[in-house]
Amino acid sequence: MDSKAQIDPGKLPRHIAIIMDGNGRWAKQHGRPRVFGHKNGVRAVRETTEAAAELGIEYLTLYAFSTENWGRPRTEVTALMHLLVETLHKEIGTLNKNNIRLQAIGDIAKLPAKTHRALLDGIERTKNNTRMTLVLALNYSAKWEILEAARQLAAQAQRHEIEPEDIDETLFSQSLTTRGIPDPELLIRTSGEARLSNFLLWQAAYSELLFTEIFWPDFSKEHLYQAIVDFQGRERRFGKISEQVG
Ligand code: IPE
Ligand code: IPE
Ligand code: MG
Repeated sequence: MDSKAQIDPGKLPRHIAIIMDGNGRWAKQHGRPRVFGHKNGVRAVRETTEAAAELGIEYLTLYAFSTENWGRPRTEVTALMHLLVETLHKEIGTLNKNNIRLQAIGDIAKLPAKTHRALLDGIERTKNNTRMTLVLALNYSAKWEILEAARQLAAQAQRHEIEPEDIDETLFSQSLTTRGIPDPELLIRTSGEARLSNFLLWQAAYSELLFTEIFWPDFSKEHLYQAIVDFQGRERRFGKISEQVG
């Protein structure tokens, strides 16, 4: 099966967002500890990033750690943060070689210092790359992000820098951590769960949602191609009727 050949290069989504889920269950299936699943998830990140860049996707956002994930057992959180530092150090060279820019969304200043530093270093070292932007959602919460934007705008209004009437979709979008990034046309979640788990609530208002049973560590280039073929077969009506958009 060659899904790549079925992709219409003229109708690619500019931005694909992925909720990488199922690492723990994948590990359990293999009779291994949860961390083994996270480690194998890194391979899927590498492969998906490469596939997206090769296709010409402009933005790939990966949900790597939610604000709610701090509630997991301390050993798992520590292992995840460690894995993140290790992966960043290992992969920055590859990102540069492939001309991929790294960015992050979320309350990243609250990450452990070492993780925060590795992330900022990766962002700095790849900032001039132009082929694709890889956005990592880390300590991310959509509700947090929306509240932050509301607070920021309220403060600006209080200082009379803006009027309340100025707050429109454009200004609000520019106050989110995703400022400058187009909304994802396609949002994928692996592992069979069908929920957003506090991810991109504003930005996904009109995203095409795709839920797949595959556990994240098993996600491959072929799965990404299939997702894009599925996306391209959908009619995006944005509230209108078929005859208006066809
Ligand atoms: C996703 O896999 C990775 C993170 C949330 C960091 P999970 O760890 O949630 O795996 P499951 O859902 O328990 O299988
Ligand atoms: C969502 O997955 C967060 C990430 C993929 C980073 P979770 O596994 O944490 O989500 P819930 O708890 O099942 O909703
Ligand atoms: Mg999960």
